[in-house]
Amino acid sequence: MNQAIRILKDEHRSISAVISGLKELARMLHEAPEKPDFRVFRAMLRYIDEYPERLHHPKEDEYLFSRLLARHPPSKALVEQLQAEHEEGRGRVRELERSLLFLEDRWPVGAREFRAAVDDYAQFHWNHMRTEEDKVLPLAQQHFSEADWRGVGEAFAGNLDPISDLREKDFQVLFSRIASIAPAPVGLGDPWKKQPV
Ligand SMILES: [Fe+2]
Ligand SMILES: [Fe+2]
Repeated sequence: MNQAIRILKDEHRSISAVISGLKELARMLHEAPEKPDFRVFRAMLRYIDEYPERLHHPKEDEYLFSRLLARHPPSKALVEQLQAEHEEGRGRVRELERSLLFLEDRWPVGAREFRAAVDDYAQFHWNHMRTEEDKVLPLAQQHFSEADWRGVGEAFAGNLDPISDLREKDFQVLFSRIASIAPAPVGLGDPWKKQPV
């Protein structure tokens, strides 16, 4: 597997891990006996909002999609769809944040709505990543030269953007923090107590 594809897939796996954790915690909310600590939700939403926004999507837009368009113009509709989804994703995360604020304020009112919003977002984002892996990458493999892949690989590794490595480290720290404060079994934090029966 070439470097660019490996990095893109690794980034998808990190985003998926946090989305899965958020989905599981939103599901567990109904069995939380008291108002849970919301810091873990805020950290997860920050990761889901900023990591794609500041690192992942700009690399896709600038280096992968634009090159695919140049090498294979019939991919225009596909590329436009994925770029529109990057935009739509930003709006959807704002909705999730609003839903979380409402829940924190009016706990436990809003737990069901928050869970539905998380499930909906997870499905949207998984479909998006699946389209990139199942449609964009095979097309790129068909139409990119070795020099193309080298260019995309360097960009994805952060070599063309001097601060991307710093931002990557920032998100690694946030990812570890999420893992340490998320309650078990999602993370390493203390489990939420079960509702007394
Ligand atoms: Fe994307
Ligand atoms: Fe992606």
